[in-house]
Amino acid sequence: MKRIGVITSGGDAPGTNACVRTVARRGFAAGVEVMGIFDSWDGLLKDEVRKLERHDVAGIVQRAGTILRSARSNLFLKDGDASVAIAALNKHQIEGVIVIGGNGSQTAANLLAKSGFPVIGVPKTIDNDLVGTDFSVGFFTAAEVATQALDNLRATAEAHSRVMIVETMGRDSGWIAVEAGIAGGADLVLIPEHEFTLDSICDRLHTRHEVHKRNYSIVIIAEGAMDVQKKLDPRRGTKDVNARPRLGGVGTMLALEIERKLGYNARCTTLGYLQRCAAPVTTDRVLATRLSDYAFDLLAGGKSGLMASLAGRDIEAVPLEQVAGKTKLVTDDYFRLAEIFG
Ligand code: F6P
Repeated sequence: MKRIGVITSGGDAPGTNACVRTVARRGFAAGVEVMGIFDSWDGLLKDEVRKLERHDVAGIVQRAGTILRSARSNLFLKDGDASVAIAALNKHQIEGVIVIGGNGSQTAANLLAKSGFPVIGVPKTIDNDLVGTDFSVGFFTAAEVATQALDNLRATAEAHSRVMIVETMGRDSGWIAVEAGIAGGADLVLIPEHEFTLDSICDRLHTRHEVHKRNYSIVIIAEGAMDVQKKLDPRRGTKDVNARPRLGGVGTMLALEIERKLGYNARCTTLGYLQRCAAPVTTDRVLATRLSDYAFDLLAGGKSGLMASLAGRDIEAVPLEQVAGKTKLVTDDYFRLAEIFG
């Protein structure tokens, strides 16, 4: 291949720049032109495409965000049609593309591949909900932000005898909450994958405060978590461009319920986009580099329809077909750790 494209789409995640840098530098070394596609798929249609130069990717491995910028796009929703995108890629004489993104992006990548356009995916999402890979780029940094929040909030929770709730991102999976809950010793970990009722939460807090005589509690709740009775309903707000509900706010709802039912002082800290914009931790930078390096090899070697993935300590390829449209949920054994050691 003489010219390939690289695109970042969906929510940004720490380590994305490390991915772009790796693809570009492999291109420089191999004499392959790497075209940066800016502003995701919509940018492609607006010809926001240009060759990446060495200076573009210098000094970015440690930076959050993405130099290519990102966006959510519904381009591929329209009847699952990839022809518009393929026409735009052909117009720029791009022979293959590396798609750095999460669920929606890899689903789009799969459509492109099925339509005959060479494409390789790199898993990038703080949610860590892509199937086919043990971990995705950005997750470790997001979990670190959440763990540090738990560590720091413990002081003020104790000082004011409060129930301190931390709300994490993650959409329909609770990976960030579980990881940070284990690392930060949260007293309660609430995620979409595990049922709970408001009464069961209040019982556990009551026991901790009245029987075990603790004056504060730390609760971590994933943004997509909902009680069985649906009193806390994170999906009642506005929708994004793909008609998915925008999440956020469940922690505040929970704080109000705890105050109402138990009379304890409760406060919520929503971590929100702070989880996406921290400087990538070492693990994310290295993972980004390994996955993108492998993705380049796959594309340059004439492969398509695959996503570079982490399996144990190894990088391998999984068919995008197995990844597209699926959500990797927190497993029971992992959640059990949060229950026991949180
Ligand atoms: O998928 C990553 C993510 O950060 C989710 O955890 C969150 O629900 C969503 O993106 C927020 O999306 P947006 O950037 O469109 O507000």
